[in-house]
Parts: sequence; C-alpha cells; structure tokens
Amino acid sequence: MKKKIAIVTGSSGQDGSYLCELLIKKSYKVIAADRRSSRDNKWRHKFLKIDDKLIYEDFDLGDLNSIVALFRKYKIDEFYNLAAQSFVAASFKTPLSTSEITGIGVLRIIDCIKNYQPKVKFYQASSSEMYGNSKLKFQDEYTKFNPRSPYAVAKLFGHHITKNYREAYNLFLCSGILFNHESPLRGDEFVTKKIVKHLVEVKKKERSHLELGNLYAKRDWGYAKDYVQAMWLMLQKKIPEDYVIATNKSHSVKFFSDLVLKALKFNYKWVGKGINEKAIDKLTRKPLIKINKKFYRPAEVNFLKGSYKKAKNQLKWRPKTSIKELVKIMVDFELKNSSYKNS
Ligand code: NAP
Ligand code: GDD
Repeated sequence: MKKKIAIVTGSSGQDGSYLCELLIKKSYKVIAADRRSSRDNKWRHKFLKIDDKLIYEDFDLGDLNSIVALFRKYKIDEFYNLAAQSFVAASFKTPLSTSEITGIGVLRIIDCIKNYQPKVKFYQASSSEMYGNSKLKFQDEYTKFNPRSPYAVAKLFGHHITKNYREAYNLFLCSGILFNHESPLRGDEFVTKKIVKHLVEVKKKERSHLELGNLYAKRDWGYAKDYVQAMWLMLQKKIPEDYVIATNKSHSVKFFSDLVLKALKFNYKWVGKGINEKAIDKLTRKPLIKINKKFYRPAEVNFLKGSYKKAKNQLKWRPKTSIKELVKIMVDFELKNSSYKNS
C-alpha cells in the first residue's frame, strides 16, 4: 500500500522528534522540514534512532519559496506545523522576528495549502500561553484569550488565521491548544529541563547552584510523548476542530523543584522570602537554588490548568504520565545521558 506522506516542520525540536518517531512507527513517509543550522540539530533524531528513516528538506518559516517547494515536490497527506520561535522569554527580546516566524509563518503555510493542495490535513501548534492571566479555575476551548507575551500574541494570530482559513475556504485545518509538555528532549532553557539538568550538575559537583526566576508561576505540565499522540488523532477525525491538550493539574515551579531535589536525594530546606528565597543544603547551609531577577519576565503568566474533556470525549485521548513519573523520566535520563548533546 502507498505510504501516507507527512510533513513535520520543526522536526528537530522536542515535539517534532517524538512526532516523527510516532509517524514512522505508523509507516508514514516522513519529511523533516528544518532550517539549516551550523550546530548539530539532529541529536534528538539520533537519540531516537530515526535520523536514517527521515527525508530531510531545507525549510524556513520566513522563506515562502522553501514552503512552496515542499508543495511542488510532495503530494502531502498531513502537514504538522511545529516550527516556531518557541521560547516565551526570548520573544520579549526579539518580538519582530517572533511575530514573523511564529505568527505570519503559519499564514505562509496555510495559504500554500489553499493555493496548491486544498486536501491537505493541517495541524497548528497553538499554545496555552495564549490564555495569559485567565482568572478561571481552568481553561478550555471556550476560555477567552488574553496573551501576555509577544510569543503568545504571535501564536494567537496563528490560531485565529487557521480558524479563519478553515471556515472561509472549507479546509481541514486544526489547532491543538497544548499546555506545557516536557521530556528528556526538552530544550535546555525551559524551566523543567533547566531545573533537572542544573540540579544533576550540582549533585555531581559540576555546578555550585541553580538560579531561577519566579518560583510561584504555576503550569499544567504533561509528557511530550503523550501529547504528540493527540496531534495525530486530531488529523484522523472527519471534521477539523480545535482541542485543548492538558493534564488538568497545575503545580508551581517551586513544587517541580521540590520533586527534583527529592528525586536526587538532596537534604535541603527553603529559607528566606521574595528575591532572597533559597533552597539550602541543611548540613553545609550552602545554596542549592537561588533567585536571580534576570529570569523574571516583563509580563508573567501566573497560572495555567487545562481541561482536556473535549479531547477525552472526541479523540479518546488522555494524559498517561503523572508529574512524578515525568520527573523520574527526566532525572533518570539526565543522570545517564548528561553528556548527550542537547541544546
Ligand atoms: P522546540 O523544541 O523549541 O522546537 C521548535 C522548532 O522550530 C525547532 O525545530 C526549531 O529549529 C524550529 N524553528 C525555529 N525557527 C524556525 C524557522 N524560522 N523556520 C523553521 N523552523 C524553525 O519546541 P517544542 O517544545 O518542540 O514545541 C513545538 C511547537 O509547539 C512550537 O511551535 C511551540 O511553540 C508549540 N508549543 C509547545 C509547547 C510545549 O510545552 N512544548 C506547548 C504549546 C505549544 P532549530 O532547531 O533550528 O531552532
Ligand atoms: N525558562 C525559565 N527559566 N522559566 C522560569 C525560570 C527560569 O529560570 N524561573 C522561573 N520560570 C518560570 C517562567 O517565568 C514561567 O512562568 C514558567 O517558569 C515556565 O517557563 P518555561 O519553561 O520557559 O515555559 P513557558 O510556560 O514560558 O512556555 C512553554 O510553554 C508554553 C505553553 O504554555 C513553551 O514551551 C512555549 O513554547 C509553550 O507555548
């Protein structure tokens, strides 16, 4: 039987790598559409042992010709747009390029779908960051958006333009509103990976302490491997719709740090308040975690917790991994593979 063709943009990232792995297992011909890099950006594919099973194509969300070239070369069944400038903190420093890539980049792709291959099924990586500081107890598909970063504003443009093209041109375009999801393959600058990586280094006496920003921001953290399943399921439906993907549990950065400190068997306690709050070693009284104001954001999202009820009912999807299991997976990986190149 002829293999289905899937394009995955941002395949070199965390989600892209797990999604490619999943699609290969499902016997798709997978086109990994990535921008050229002067550094090794295939380390995740090598780790998952999928690098020799992918077809690589040069692609940049800022370069329309590179997108058109994909539509000229392949008869595409499914198109997953995971590429983005995805780091919220960086979006405050590079708001223009974030808008251009994370926002307008989506329009470049779906305009090609409309013009070249209107039968393509398209997945857009929308984000819980779009909710900003919602005052509700949880967020779902009906919650009002209130973006608090240039990244979130750009994602909201991508979200709305996807819905607009779906309705205006009757195309199969879906957005997954995914809440934070983590894994051993997470980029180093995101808070969960930073906590795990730096505390493992402290444990091994390769680093004196970890520095964090806002300890009290709360996030709904799931496991990336569970979440890429949901992306695929959305494109298998008859009717394109948007879905929230989350765990419906919310924990603070401090709580996540506690889980990692405990998993690494540190004998510690928290002392001080505000900017002076610290986790210290009970015996030596040396700091294990300190606050550094430079990691605070100009505008923060304080609380996220998603309801995945619609995904559970319609996609038969549910999160399978608890936060404690997630921490164990990440800590075990870091202890074993800390020299594995990740960026
Ligand atoms: P990630 O690890 O940062 O991966 C992002 C990917 O986008 C990387 O492959 C990156 O390539 C690529 N990229 C960046 N700029 C590009 C450009 N101009 N042209 C082409 N590719 C470009 O992010 P992730 O965690 O896997 O997330 C995947 C997607 O889901 C992103 O769109 C993110 O915003 C969204 N999302 C993530 C979460 C989450 O919690 N992980 C939640 C909601 C939504 P390089 O390797 O060259 O940098
Ligand atoms: N990165 C980072 N570094 N965050 C810190 C730190 C630190 O040292 N200290 C505290 N935090 C807080 C941030 O202020 C934020 O409230 C929270 O930890 C999570 O930060 P990140 O892990 O950087 O993730 P994010 O929530 O900003 O964004 C991620 O999730 C979004 C979905 O809600 C990214 O994956 C986005 O691409 C994604 O859309």
